Amino acid sequence: MLRGSIVVWVFLLLGLALGQDTRVVNILDPSTANNREVTRLLIWVSVFAALIFIVVTGALTYTVIKFRRRGNEQGEPPQFHGNDRLEIIWTVIPTVIIVIIFGLTAQSMIANSRFPAGAMTVKVTGYQFWWDYEYQDLGIRTSNELILPVNKPVIVEMTSKDVIHSWWPASLVGKQDAIPGITNRLHFTPEKEGTYYGQCAELCGASHSRMRFRVIVVSQEQFDRFVEGAKGFQAPAATDPTLAKGQQLFNQQCAACHAVQGTASANNRIAPDLSYFGNRTTVGAGLWENTDTYLIPWIKNSPGVKPGSKMPAFPQLSDEDARAIAAYVKSLKIEGLDFEGLPQF
Ligand code: CUA
Repeated sequence: MLRGSIVVWVFLLLGLALGQDTRVVNILDPSTANNREVTRLLIWVSVFAALIFIVVTGALTYTVIKFRRRGNEQGEPPQFHGNDRLEIIWTVIPTVIIVIIFGLTAQSMIANSRFPAGAMTVKVTGYQFWWDYEYQDLGIRTSNELILPVNKPVIVEMTSKDVIHSWWPASLVGKQDAIPGITNRLHFTPEKEGTYYGQCAELCGASHSRMRFRVIVVSQEQFDRFVEGAKGFQAPAATDPTLAKGQQLFNQQCAACHAVQGTASANNRIAPDLSYFGNRTTVGAGLWENTDTYLIPWIKNSPGVKPGSKMPAFPQLSDEDARAIAAYVKSLKIEGLDFEGLPQF
């Protein structure tokens, strides 16, 4: 018992010490129709659970006090067996409660499973340990940070290229498994602009806990600018020697796996698309803020900072080389878009 509680405390303290993102993910945030249904169900179930708790513990307390030994009894108290009326009551009441909860659950499930007409479709593909996003209707692709317009329904089609993952932006919608060879669908309509925290919710390997993502919900006007910038994206010309060196190193070391739209050499799809990497708020699939402090160690030794990462270490790169590559990928940017500073959920 004591050992058990020590283990719990050690894990809690470790969690606090290692916690990169201190946001409190709230599955009950009623910011979408989906989560409002879940919250409504939880309230009903909690009310019934509280009623049952009060009745059962009340009856128990009453019985213990009323029929306690008072010190002057002789032998056993009068014995009796069965009470038809009581037994019918305590069978009928739980049955009615279960039927009510079943009805409410079915109602919520039906409401949440109704797919909206005219929604935008995004294909989400899970990889160890990052997410690929393809806006099929718009012909654009990005990774780890999904940009969506506010108040527009979206259908997410989910699959995986390796093992089972689960895509879960908790404050927006329930989790859905991403399974190789199968397409699962879910839908939601974000109602508030902001950056939503997301997490892979299916144990998928060494960096399952580090397979995070963001859903960035912006105004329609900002989303249109993103789409316009993304569709016509061309990697900008390297204007200074550092960028030129970064570009050259990128083409030698990174282009075999990554894609950058509008370049001849980088068009591979086995790693995150880095076309608008400069607009990302995070690096390493939602792990760290997108600054040189995190980006440079990531470029040099990705498996060293994220166990199981498929991106190899590049011990041959000097600090200066890594800095040049970081400068180059951060120059890949749609101008006039800034996703920092949005409210966080
Ligand atoms: Cu992917 Cu856990």
